[in-house]
Amino acid sequence: MPTCLVCNHAVTEFISFGRMPIANGFLTPAQFAAEYTFELRVGFCPACSMVQLLEQPDREMMFHENYAYFSSISTRMAAHFKEFAQSVMRDYLRRDDPFVVELGSNDGIMLHNFADAKIRHLGIEPSANVAEAARKRGVNTVCEFFDQDLARRILEEHGPADAILAANVMCHIPYLHSVAAGMEILLSDTGVVQFEDPYLGDIVEKTSYDQIYDEHAFYFSVASVERLFAEHGLEVVDAIPQNVHGGSMRYVIARKGAYPVSQAVTRQKAKEEALGLKDLETYHRFRRNVEASRDALMETLNRLKAEGQRVVGYGATSKSTTVTMYCGITPEHVEFISDTTPTKQGKFSPGAHIPVRPYDAFKARYPDVALLFAWNHGEEIMDKETAFREAGGKWLVYVPTVEIL
Ligand code: SAH
Ligand code: TMP
Ligand code: ZN
Repeated sequence: MPTCLVCNHAVTEFISFGRMPIANGFLTPAQFAAEYTFELRVGFCPACSMVQLLEQPDREMMFHENYAYFSSISTRMAAHFKEFAQSVMRDYLRRDDPFVVELGSNDGIMLHNFADAKIRHLGIEPSANVAEAARKRGVNTVCEFFDQDLARRILEEHGPADAILAANVMCHIPYLHSVAAGMEILLSDTGVVQFEDPYLGDIVEKTSYDQIYDEHAFYFSVASVERLFAEHGLEVVDAIPQNVHGGSMRYVIARKGAYPVSQAVTRQKAKEEALGLKDLETYHRFRRNVEASRDALMETLNRLKAEGQRVVGYGATSKSTTVTMYCGITPEHVEFISDTTPTKQGKFSPGAHIPVRPYDAFKARYPDVALLFAWNHGEEIMDKETAFREAGGKWLVYVPTVEIL
């Protein structure tokens, strides 16, 4: 029996996707033969209600000098993080010479807002290529993995932090106790931790199983996050739903008693109970929904193929690795995937080995159907792709249900 990464209780497996490659491991044909794979299995801990991967590749296999995800590729996300930064400046940086730390700061998408405002800041970013991109735009960055030990060193050198921020990275870190302990060490008395990640409630409600891949070790709820931080003298004082990445939750965390706890926390926990996030049966139902989603998507793709329609993927997301591999999508179904990230272009998608081409390839000859892998950026994409629609192009989406739009 696997044990919980948070509380050591036995974890119950509820879905297995089979062997999967590194979701962001775009590769060249010379690398196909030696492609690494692992078992993508997910379990639920009945004791602390944390949903988690049962096996995860070593962190150095995922986060390194060739990390493929550059956050600033999305203008919508850049706007989102600007608002996030402004709310932190307004509400929590009132003392003289405040200090802000961000985990997983990537190419500086959030911290550049603090750098531009001449606020003392430090990004923690272990992937050297994206860390370098951040430095180039004036964002102070250390290229290391955050943990308790690094927190102590930062405290010695810079003093306590008024805000510790993290977006789409807490859920990547299996050694969460070291991270929470590090935050407790580094936080000033009235400081806050604010982090956001894809929300378990949305994943279950929308059957968005493609959020499940190697980097995402955890699928958080308010209840599971509260339980984790309580062990470190910290409490969740607010929980604010976010309309990004297909539904995220922002958790505001402080030293116990430092701030009043918002009613939103109690309300959200009640919603989670009603949604069944603490019941194993919910996850078995989720598995059945995932299987039905896979079958519906393949039925559609096989029909389009039989009809001789050209299908192209839109957005070579890490999420699409789970979808292509689990459903069995091949270059026979999807001619290529269009993506704006230079480092992905000219390579092949992990596992399924579908070619990744620059956006120009999509634009030059519109397909009949675009399979929207980057559905979490759907609004931004639909807004700019009106010409594709006008040319008669159709979108194939699969979250929350398989549909041709
Ligand atoms: N915050 C950005 C990037 C998310 S991708 C955004 O929301 O768009 C996750 C990032 O976290 C990657 O750049 C990865 O290199 C980094 N990361 C992974 N493990 C980490 C750790 N232990 N400490 C700090 N950063 C980490
Ligand atoms: P994400 O879902 O992990 O944020 O990744 C989004 C991917 O989609 C990333 O590789 C960039 C790509 N993309 C496009 O190709 N065109 C777009 O308009 C957007 C928003 C993203
Ligand atoms: Zn547990």
